[in-house]
Amino acid sequence: MLDGRQVLLIVSGGIAAYKALDLIRRLRERGASVRPVVTKGGQEFVTPLSLAALAESPAYTDLFSLKDEAEMGHIRLARDADVILVAPATADLLAKMAHGLADDLASTLLLAADKPILVAPAMNHRMWEHPATKANVAILAARGVGIIAPGVGAMACGETGTGRLAESEDILAAVEAALRRPGVLSGRRALVTSGPTYEPIDPVRYIGNHSSGKQGHAIAEALAALGAETVLVTGPTALADPRCVRSVHVETAAQMLAACRAALPVDVAVCAAAVADWRAAKPAAQKLKKTGRLPDIKLAESVDVLRSLSAAGNLRPRLVVGFAAETEALVERAQAKRAAKGCDWIVANDVTAGVFGSDDNSVVLVTDAAVETWPKLTKREVGHRLAARIAQVLTHATLAPHG
Ligand code: CTP
Repeated sequence: MLDGRQVLLIVSGGIAAYKALDLIRRLRERGASVRPVVTKGGQEFVTPLSLAALAESPAYTDLFSLKDEAEMGHIRLARDADVILVAPATADLLAKMAHGLADDLASTLLLAADKPILVAPAMNHRMWEHPATKANVAILAARGVGIIAPGVGAMACGETGTGRLAESEDILAAVEAALRRPGVLSGRRALVTSGPTYEPIDPVRYIGNHSSGKQGHAIAEALAALGAETVLVTGPTALADPRCVRSVHVETAAQMLAACRAALPVDVAVCAAAVADWRAAKPAAQKLKKTGRLPDIKLAESVDVLRSLSAAGNLRPRLVVGFAAETEALVERAQAKRAAKGCDWIVANDVTAGVFGSDDNSVVLVTDAAVETWPKLTKREVGHRLAARIAQVLTHATLAPHG
């Protein structure tokens, strides 16, 4: 999220300039305020009026406009921003930036800026690949300007190659990354398990469950948003990897445990995965065929990731959090599970309420000290609330020894 952050958006001339309108909308949806500046070339493609209307801010165009200067000096325009984003950035503007020219409002602001600068170039692919442009981009990158690489594809000029303005989502992600404040959990390491596990019966069949992974993924994203260096070990899900998290994809419980062990040491481990409790003791090497008799599949217990992490000796995370999916006696069973697994907290949820695949969750947090019933929240909100509680423990209090 970009709540309250100020983005100075410089729009230079090029067919992709119209995409600046969509960018403004999306930046504002994420809580940012946007001040647009548009070059003369940019105004050939998008009007200051449209930019101003979407940004609900004047669009600045002219270095020598007395009106603009009276309202907001150009130095202040550059200094007020938290980040300066040039999208699209033409070859010409990149060249001016690289060589310190300041002959219009955009280039002057860029020279006066003391804030992070991001450029999203867009141009014909021959211009992008020209040694002059390459050298300019290298100068800017070496100076710490963030380059949001253009994409490959068909271009407005009819040619195909690298030079299309990056996708809005990628530009937004770069803005968010540039603005990320050092979070309360920066310097801490977190491990989260998520999703189901698949335990093979034969090469085509497996034992699995309905876990969507939404809750575990949301927790990993929330911990990363607070600055924790986060590893997500996930079974098969339909979800995209969360941003700013290192995702490790596994199938079985044994693989999940191995990946978790490889991620240690961590400060906190949250086991949100719905690990299959049983596996086929000896998965068949070939597909089992129908013979008229039922197959004799011997089951064995899966390794218990939560229990193993809770008993990891000097590698035990300072805080280990498990989940309990229950259909009755929620709190009692959660307390019993907390003791049995040796973890510090249990997040218990009543799975009779259709939690699987849903975006909402009603949970009870059972800690060593208390039982907290949380209101019905989205899984993202549960993620943020849990991450905040974890941050409290890791940054302030000392956790009572588990007993
Ligand atoms: N868990 C785990 N590895 C397993 C089984 C469970 O890491 N092999 C973790 C889950 O990620 C969750 C917690 O243990 O954090 C509780 O899982 P749950 O399936 O609810 O409990 P079980 O131990 O399987 O007990 P039961 O099914 O009998 O309630």
